[in-house]
Amino acid sequence: MIEFLALSKTYGAFRALAPLTLTVSKGEMFGFLGPNGAGKTTTIRMMMSILVPSGGAVRIAGLDCHRDAAEVKRHVGYLPDSPIFYDYLRGREILQFIGEMHGLTRAESQLRAQRLMAELGLGEVSEEFAVNYSMGMKKKLLLARALLHDPQVMYLDEPTANVDPQARAFLLDAVRALRARGKAIVYASHYMEEVESLCDRIAIIDHGRLLQTGTLTEIYADPSHRRVGELIGSPAMALLDATVRGARLAVDGYPIPLPLSGLSLGAKAEGAGAGPLPDGAARARDGQPGLGARRARRGESARP
Ligand SMILES: Nc1ncnc2c1ncn2[C@@H]1O[C@H](COP(=O)(O)OP(=O)(O)OP(=O)(O)O)[C@@H](O)[C@H]1O
Ligand SMILES: [Mg+2]
Repeated sequence: MIEFLALSKTYGAFRALAPLTLTVSKGEMFGFLGPNGAGKTTTIRMMMSILVPSGGAVRIAGLDCHRDAAEVKRHVGYLPDSPIFYDYLRGREILQFIGEMHGLTRAESQLRAQRLMAELGLGEVSEEFAVNYSMGMKKKLLLARALLHDPQVMYLDEPTANVDPQARAFLLDAVRALRARGKAIVYASHYMEEVESLCDRIAIIDHGRLLQTGTLTEIYADPSHRRVGELIGSPAMALLDATVRGARLAVDGYPIPLPLSGLSLGAKAEGAGAGPLPDGAARARDGQPGLGARRARRGESARP
């Protein structure tokens, strides 16, 4: 249903996305997993024709996302990575405005706005100015905005970034409910556990390159990879990154045998080119058990 045909993006000499070729099937929940700067937002922005591809194309149901942008947007709901709202509009007004932009009548827009705000727990703040919403409320409003025209396909760019655990759980449940209603979803995140719990298939990208794609089962089965399900918490991306670049994983200087039986030991990445590490992994590198590993030992989630 979504075809990436050597889609690429460069900014001057900098390559943000190397030619990307892959297909997302109809009704599939597809995850783009990658650390900061991997190229997730760049890819989604080209899918929304916010950015013009430097090369190749991306098509949805046969439509070119750039050439046929207006038609594509009729079928797609987009939750952007950063919430930006008109500062003179209230939450309800924003949704009504978007509904009317999509060609709904005023009455229909009002009805859908009210219903969505109630469903997403925004009923009490519908008359507040959206710029004054908390981050969790803003993300819910973005989701409502993406859903207003009842699209069949959703692009969600880090919907849970910078929200508290309750709002995060709420948003993830909302995404699951959308999936159950048959929406095709492209979900970008740097949280392994989110794509793992939500997605049928994932593409792991880093520095604009597609590193691996497949179902979680396929990725688990790949002997060159650590088992994704065992990479818990913030060191996960760093460990994956280190693995992909050929760095050796070790605990206290001893290489970890495959298959990896768990990372609760505070595994550290060794070797050249392991790349910048997130908080927990940086500690692991220093010889201290990583934050994620310590949390994993206590059976906690590594996310705040
Ligand atoms: N307008 C721009 N000019 C130059 N470089 C850019 C521009 N926009 C993005 N980039 C670069 O492209 C790369 C990919 O950025 P992108 O925002 O797609 O990453 P991301 O995977 O979404 O990261 P994050 O998890 O932080 O949201 C980054 O190195 C970024 O600095
Ligand atoms: Mg991004």
